[in-house]
Parts: sequence; C-alpha cells; structure tokens
Amino acid sequence: MRKIKTAILGATGMIGQNYLYLLLNHPWFQITSLTGGESAGKRYGAASRWLMSPDMPKQFKDVIVKPTEPKEVDADIIFSALPTSAAKVVEPKFAEAGFHIISDSSAFRQYDDVPVVIPEVNPDHLSIIDIQKRKRKWDGFIASNPNCTALGLTIALKPIHDLLKINKVVITTMQALSGAGLPGVPSLSITDNVIPFIAEEEEKVQLEPCKILGSIEEDRIKPADIRVEASCNRVPTIDGHLESVYVETKERVDIDRVKDTLVSFKGKPQEQKLPMAPAQPIIVREEEDRPQPRLDRLAGSVPGMGVTVGRIRRGSDANSLWLHVLSHNTIRGGSGSSILLGELMVALKIIQ
Ligand SMILES: NC(=O)c1ccc[n+]([C@@H]2O[C@H](COP(=O)([O-])OP(=O)(O)OC[C@H]3O[C@@H](n4cnc5c(N)ncnc54)[C@H](OP(=O)(O)O)[C@@H]3O)[C@@H](O)[C@H]2O)c1
Repeated sequence: MRKIKTAILGATGMIGQNYLYLLLNHPWFQITSLTGGESAGKRYGAASRWLMSPDMPKQFKDVIVKPTEPKEVDADIIFSALPTSAAKVVEPKFAEAGFHIISDSSAFRQYDDVPVVIPEVNPDHLSIIDIQKRKRKWDGFIASNPNCTALGLTIALKPIHDLLKINKVVITTMQALSGAGLPGVPSLSITDNVIPFIAEEEEKVQLEPCKILGSIEEDRIKPADIRVEASCNRVPTIDGHLESVYVETKERVDIDRVKDTLVSFKGKPQEQKLPMAPAQPIIVREEEDRPQPRLDRLAGSVPGMGVTVGRIRRGSDANSLWLHVLSHNTIRGGSGSSILLGELMVALKIIQ
C-alpha cells in the first residue's frame, strides 16, 4: 500500500512531538510536512524543545519547519496540534483548500456540522462531514478529537450508558502537567501544590460527552440527555489525567454487570484491527488503590491507548455508582486517538 502523506501542524509543541514519535514507524502514514508558528523557517532540531523520552528521531532534526499555510503543505491527511486561537483562523483555510484535517484543538468542536469523534464510541458521526462540506463549500473538512479529559471519561461512560441509561454525571479531575502544553505551568505554582482551576476546561468536559454520546437526527448531532457537572484541578503529575466520577442511571445498577460490560467493550477499531487500536479499550482494575497515573498511564496493548477504570462501587442508592478513570492525556487524549481516527477514516475510505 502507498503510504499516506501526512502533515503535522504545530509540530514543535507537546502534542506535535507525540505525533512525530507515534508516527515514526507507522505502517500507513508517512510525515511529509511539519509546520510551526514562531519556529517556521528553522530546523526542527533547533526549533523544538524536545521533552520526550526517547530522543528526538534523527530523521526530523534537519527538516525545516514550514509556516502554517496551505501552500506550504503537501499531505493527504493533516493532524492539527495548534492552540485554539491559531486553529480558529488556520484550519478553515486548509479545509477550504481541500485538506482533510483531524484537529486536537477545541476551535470547532461546538459546531453542529463538526463531528467530535472517539473511534470506538461514535464513528457514525463521521457522516456529518458531507453536510459540513456542502454547507461551508469546502473541498476538505475538519473532524475533531475530543478534549483530553472528556475523552477518557466518555469511553468509560459509553458502555454504562448503553447498559443503564445515564441521567447525570459529576466528575472531579486530577489533571497532569503535560495537559497544559509548552512551556507549561510555572514550577513555583505547582510544586507542592494543587491548582483548583483550569481555564475553560470544565465547560468542555460538561458539553463534549453529551455531543459524543448523542445521535444523528435530521442532518445534525442531537446531544444525549445527560447532565454533566465537572470540577477540574491541575496536579503535579507529568502525564495521565485521573478522574473521580459519580454516575446516576435510569436503571438499577448491578456492579458485576457494569464491570463485564466495561471489560468486553469494543468498537470498529478493534473489529478492523487498526494499527493504533488497543485490543481492549477499557481495562478494569480490581485493586482498591488503582488506577494510578504513574502505574497505569501506559496501559493497553498499544501503550497509552488503554483507558483504566477502577474503584467501581455502588453509590448511596440503587441507581448510582462511583468509579475512577485514568487515561494518558497526550496519547489517548491527543495524538494517539487522532491517529486512530485517521486510520478509521482510511479504513472507511473517507480519506484515500
Ligand atoms: N497537551 C495535551 O495533553 C493536549 C491533549 C489534547 C489536546 N490538546 C490540544 O492540542 C493543541 C496543542 O496542544 P499542545 O499542548 O501541544 O500545545 P503547545 O505545546 O503550546 O504547542 C503549540 C504548537 O502550535 C504552534 N503554534 C502556536 N501558535 C501558532 C500560530 N499562530 N500559527 C502556527 N502555529 C502556531 C507552536 O509552534 P511554535 O513553537 O513554532 O510557535 C507549537 O508547535 C491545543 O489545542 C490543545 O488544547 C492538548
């Protein structure tokens, strides 16, 4: 198979670096363009403050970072790791010029004609892309990866919602430092500390699961009728967002059935054996003190793509339960999920 030409917008940032690493030996995608903002025109090795282990892949060190403009890019698929402010301006220009964009930013997630997709949860929402192209007169399109916190939460909620119909979710998050991107939270603010606020995060965590769990009705996505309330906190872990989740359901909770449903949950990526798909999207831990960020963030047969759920227990009445959810924010919550979405679009021939 001919490899699919792939561009990374915002390639020097936290998520951009993850793309370089995860796509290094990808069987379908080959990186052909890297773009940046202030780093445009420089060699990638000089422009990027590489923070990942292992070292920066040798083949990218001398690649010149291009300006983030359509005429500079040669690609069949674009992964956009731009900040929201830049994505708002830049991504429509690429879509108008015919490029297929999968975006990690929140810039277009709130629009009816932009699908926010978790490949295992709502691949049917990709049908909205045709409406988007028609309505906006674009040859290309924008599809969105969800917010990194909403993503782990929604994967865990999907099988529970299918089983018991969820009414309400209350979530408190403990979010890792890498979630803030580069240069990140000042060390003097976060060392020996927890910051009980992350700008604009609670709004995203409250809205996005309802859109993702919603249904397509009359050419638009009708959000699921679930009330989600969130409190978001920044904690001094490096990677891996941990979430304490309370769920109220329409039907009575049987904890063993909930566990079975979570463990056996699979989606199209598993059916199609896509390269980035973990064999099991949800891993259930029985120990009373798991999941933990340091121990569980790289869970999954594809490291970092498994969502770990633990401390599953009854709430105070028969229609409620508690659980903890952990997912790797830059892999499952960022580039890993976007790559999986790209693979799904290739498998479905949305991208050729
Ligand atoms: N960090 C996470 O865990 C995470 C997870 C999921 C989604 N996201 C989302 O992914 C996106 C990237 O996040 P990040 O953490 O990687 O951010 P980051 O570390 O701040 O990186 C931002 C990248 O965008 C480039 N850029 C900034 N302004 C630009 C402009 N005006 N034009 C062109 N390029 C510009 C930067 O290039 P220069 O260095 O050349 O300026 C850099 O490569 C954000 O929308 C974020 O919300 C982040």
